[in-house]
Amino acid sequence: MNIVTLSPRQFTAQVFGHELYWKPMLDMYEAMLEGGRHSVSGANGVGKSWTIAEVAVHYLVKYPDALVLITSSSFDQLMNGVWRYISKNAERLRALGVPVRVGARHISMGRDRFIHPISPSKPESFAGIHSEHVAVIVDEGSGVPSWIEETLEGNNPHLVIISYNPLRPAGYAYKSFCDPGYTKWTFSALDHPNVKQRKRLIPRAVTYEDVQRKLQSWGEASPAYIARVLGQFPEAAGNRLYTATALENARRLIVPDVAATTVLLGMGYDAGFGGGDPSDMTVLRMHGKNEYFSFVSQEEFDYAKIALTNTQAIRIMKHHNILPRHVLLDKTGAGIGTIQDMHARGYKIRGVNFSNTARDDDSYSDVATEMAYEVQSVLDEQILSLAGAPQELFDEMIARQIDDDGDRKGRLKLEPKKKLKARGLPSPNRLDSLMLALRAVKKKSGVNYVFG
Ligand SMILES: Nc1ncnc2c1ncn2[C@@H]1O[C@H](COP(=O)(O)OP(=O)(O)OP(=O)(O)O)[C@@H](O)[C@H]1O
Ligand SMILES: [Mg+2]
Repeated sequence: MNIVTLSPRQFTAQVFGHELYWKPMLDMYEAMLEGGRHSVSGANGVGKSWTIAEVAVHYLVKYPDALVLITSSSFDQLMNGVWRYISKNAERLRALGVPVRVGARHISMGRDRFIHPISPSKPESFAGIHSEHVAVIVDEGSGVPSWIEETLEGNNPHLVIISYNPLRPAGYAYKSFCDPGYTKWTFSALDHPNVKQRKRLIPRAVTYEDVQRKLQSWGEASPAYIARVLGQFPEAAGNRLYTATALENARRLIVPDVAATTVLLGMGYDAGFGGGDPSDMTVLRMHGKNEYFSFVSQEEFDYAKIALTNTQAIRIMKHHNILPRHVLLDKTGAGIGTIQDMHARGYKIRGVNFSNTARDDDSYSDVATEMAYEVQSVLDEQILSLAGAPQELFDEMIARQIDDDGDRKGRLKLEPKKKLKARGLPSPNRLDSLMLALRAVKKKSGVNYVFG
């Protein structure tokens, strides 16, 4: 058989040994083989990396001068993800008698064509690479550094593919999405054959159950659901976490009487060092089982002595009858000494570490970011009343943003406090203590609730 003349459908069937079940993926595959710029936005597990890996190998076969460069959000991600698929595909080609050499980090066909993995952390020059058929492929493109973007602008590859989960309307991925020079491909998990037919037609790809689970834990209005299931960029007020409208609604929200059945009081305790780094304590009330949350009080103390601050914490706990297990504190920094002193006094309050891995560590860079989104989610659902909260809290909330650069894995990450400072804004201690308070009172539900 002459594999060069096979159509994409025949090629995948005869070389890779399977049908391309999903028509839009097949359309994309065919278009990519002809070159051009492609921006691929999609849900998790729909087959983006898989398809791109097939395109890379097919491209190598199709053009006698093909030079394929492929990268991802990190070298590990690359080698464990799309590069593995590519190697397997190249092996299949070899098994059919095509003269491909498959090395651990290089795949070549004769002297003039190759597929080469590139580490995103090591700027490389594409300058030495000359060919009519250069392909630059970026998988997990939401976490790709700017040097690749610059390199792309300087050269003009025959084929450019950038594929990503559209978590943040920022960065290179978003730019390609908005650029009319790119052909856009969007893959929603809801359209995937596995999900539509509620059968595992394509093994290991997204399933109906996966989608249901995400819907349950995130809700259909959440940015995580919009990005990771619908494959679309969540509409955001820039990088802001909390919109003015959402905050205004929360300030006006009066919790209905019906929700007054069960109540639980909890406190979020953000410990500071004193001397301008204050400690903040927020008391929240939960009504029903996660039906509503309402603001009770927030106090700020600027004592340099842990013991003095803790005396205030204990006063608040006694005043509202709050049990130690319903008090949550960030254990990093000043928090360590604070929690030890509380425990020594017999108040076994709980701790969580803001910089730990999030429960949903596919979406969030750390616990703090995940908690900031928990606040966003109760605001969006209009079940958090902030009536009576101090203006300083609203000021901190309106300023809080998601970082432009995200993290190396393309996950959501809060703007670092250093950058906030550079923008002339104070440390968001009041918001931190609100985030802690919400987690302290929220009853276990989906992925939202965990004590670190
Ligand atoms: N056409 C296909 N035929 C057979 N298996 C497939 C096909 N497409 C995808 N798969 C399977 O589905 C799994 C998920 O696909 P893939 O890794 O490409 O998803 P993705 O869209 O890149 O998701 P993520 O955003 O999580 O990286 C793959 O491991 C592969 O086993
Ligand atoms: Mg992938």
